Amino acid sequence: MNSIIRLENVGRVFEARHVHTHALQEVSLEIARGEFVSILGKSGSGKSTLLYIMGLLDLPTDGELFFLDRPTRTFTASQRAQVRATQMGFVFQTFNLIGELTALDNVLLPLRFAGMPGGVQACQRRALEALEGVGLDHRADHHPSQLSGGQQQRVAIARAVVARPPIIFADEPTGNLDSATGADVVGILRALRQQGTTVVMVTHDEALSRVADRTLRMHDGRLLPAVPDCGAA
Ligand SMILES: Nc1ncnc2c1ncn2[C@@H]1O[C@H](COP(=O)(O)OP(=O)(O)O)[C@@H](O)[C@H]1O
Ligand SMILES: [Mg+2]
Repeated sequence: MNSIIRLENVGRVFEARHVHTHALQEVSLEIARGEFVSILGKSGSGKSTLLYIMGLLDLPTDGELFFLDRPTRTFTASQRAQVRATQMGFVFQTFNLIGELTALDNVLLPLRFAGMPGGVQACQRRALEALEGVGLDHRADHHPSQLSGGQQQRVAIARAVVARPPIIFADEPTGNLDSATGADVVGILRALRQQGTTVVMVTHDEALSRVADRTLRMHDGRLLPAVPDCGAA
């Protein structure tokens, strides 16, 4: 099997004050290693819930998630954290950088969590390389407040990839950026895919979703059947 992520009949019900929200219903899908998949749907259709479940940040109430063909339901919290830290990178709409840290120290964080493999200097080099990869090595000593939104998101991408995870999850990564800056950020995700990283990107923007190899469409918590590619001969 070549899939990195597989979902079988995944459901997620939120219960609050006797109100049940079926955020996901019977979602089955498979993502191959190295694929760039976009998840497209309106606000409230369940995209973030789906991404959080695939990224082991949330648990399904039904069905099963397989990561690299391993069922994840029986993972302990620390196993889940371990898989996230070593195998997954995350990029969010709001960047989520730590304001008190420089760009370099933000990018170093995942390596600190991993216990600085190879030593401090090797990790600093690697973090600087990750910043170089997003064109921001000259901003290594800047704090997030000294950077534009697009620059902050590029730092967040460097942080997501510094531990070289096989898969990156991005939830509306361009949602807080103007369209030109957003296109740059998506270009970086596209380049990561060219280098072999699996990318899963949530968006409500149909045009943006076209950069992906494949688009999954969501409506009211369900995955819509794949539409045949009209451009195909
Ligand atoms: N923690 C939560 N508690 C209760 N309901 C939630 C929670 N998270 C999401 N939902 C609900 O689940 C549905 C899907 O939400 P979400 O996955 O955030 O959609 P999207 O990312 O497509 O905008 C919405 O109806 C939302 O209100
Ligand atoms: Mg969302």
